[in-house]
Amino acid sequence: MLERERLRQAAGQATVTAEIAAQTGAVDLGGPTVHSWTYGGNVPGPEIRLRAGDMLRANLRNDLPQPTTIHWHGIALRNDMDGVPVLTQAAVASGAAFRYEFTVPDPGTYIFHPHVGTQLDRGLYGALIVDDPNERGDYDQELVVLFDDWLDGTARDPDQVLADLKANGMSGMQGMEGMGGMHMQRSDLLGGDAGDVSYPYYLANGRISAAAQTFLAKAGQRVRLRLINIAGDTAFRIGVPGVPLTITHTDGFPVHPTAGPSVLLGMGERMDAIITLPDDSRPLVGIAEGKGGAARVALNVGRPTAVTVDAAAADISAQPVIRAEELVATDRVSLPDRAPDVVHDLKLGGPGEGYSWTINDQPYDPAHGLSVSEGQRVRLRLVNTTSMFHPMHLHGHTFQVRTASGLGARKDTVNVLPGRAVEVEFDADNPGQWLTHCHNVYHGEAGMMTVVSYSS
Ligand code: C2O
Ligand code: CU
Repeated sequence: MLERERLRQAAGQATVTAEIAAQTGAVDLGGPTVHSWTYGGNVPGPEIRLRAGDMLRANLRNDLPQPTTIHWHGIALRNDMDGVPVLTQAAVASGAAFRYEFTVPDPGTYIFHPHVGTQLDRGLYGALIVDDPNERGDYDQELVVLFDDWLDGTARDPDQVLADLKANGMSGMQGMEGMGGMHMQRSDLLGGDAGDVSYPYYLANGRISAAAQTFLAKAGQRVRLRLINIAGDTAFRIGVPGVPLTITHTDGFPVHPTAGPSVLLGMGERMDAIITLPDDSRPLVGIAEGKGGAARVALNVGRPTAVTVDAAAADISAQPVIRAEELVATDRVSLPDRAPDVVHDLKLGGPGEGYSWTINDQPYDPAHGLSVSEGQRVRLRLVNTTSMFHPMHLHGHTFQVRTASGLGARKDTVNVLPGRAVEVEFDADNPGQWLTHCHNVYHGEAGMMTVVSYSS
């Protein structure tokens, strides 16, 4: 066992076991039934819940027609359990099994998903919730919501979409035209293109809006929302009309509570928020930003609502939005003040010939990365030279965003808007080979990934 993993463990550590069967089969989205790939037959897959400091033992069985892995998005875990083919393990062959076993150090809202090809954009995902044994839990109920864009099992599957994007070369928009005659998808909030792929459905917890999940509660109750964007190519703007959200965490880590009418989540980002339920039922709406669709969960307090999903979406769209880049970490989780030992620039570029997306003009090569050494304070400068936003994710660490006024939130995924630069810092305290990449699954697969590579 890795020395580092031994240090994470403690006497009396509990082990939580999860059986995860990656399989194909029919999925009912609440009307449309599609043939897709899932964990255990349902979308989302099983929720895994444990306490900070526990050991997770997850037995993956691969009954998919392709090799697969599981990545534990946001968790500072041992490198060999990170689920990245070539870099940290051989992909698990079709028909084979693999045991993931690691200590989960930090509380928060996380996700698990495959890290092979475009599998993320099928139905393979689940929430990983890590409770904080020291938190007082000042709320009555909890609601975990995974927002997703969906095309698997409809006209084209994600592999075909990527092939079309590549075949259509530099213009992803031509690929879209072939997929259903959409026009340009643009968003002021995202500062440019809203996506490369048009989707027939948007889902909240696996359901289309017309057949939304109902969450039963009482007027006046405080609900902790754990909002997760697990989409392939869609940012979601999320809110409840007339009900302010108080953001308490992003990407698992606490922030100074910040209230507002809605939040923006890029792919791979999470936010926890507290709401107080009003006297009548309302929808919790996730607007597919710039794409003209929405998903929802019905918050039902017994008294019916007159608010339609369209009215709710219009109301939320007219209000200000909280971006994760504006949040500030609590002192307890803020990185101590320190000058960086190393600064790496990541110039985000594309799309080039054949729909290639790059970092520092290079497509992904697992053998080449950004060199760091254990003990260093590392600064990454993410510079977006493209016309689309990129939610940039780092494995194995939670960085701190630098803002104009100082330090921002601790996060593992940060939106970098077109023409903008975002700086983040982390302490190199988890040796290994760690992917950093755009969490748009098509951009990542088309090359927008590199490796933060510890050298000893
Ligand atoms: Cu959630 Cu490398 O990804
Ligand atoms: Cu991207």
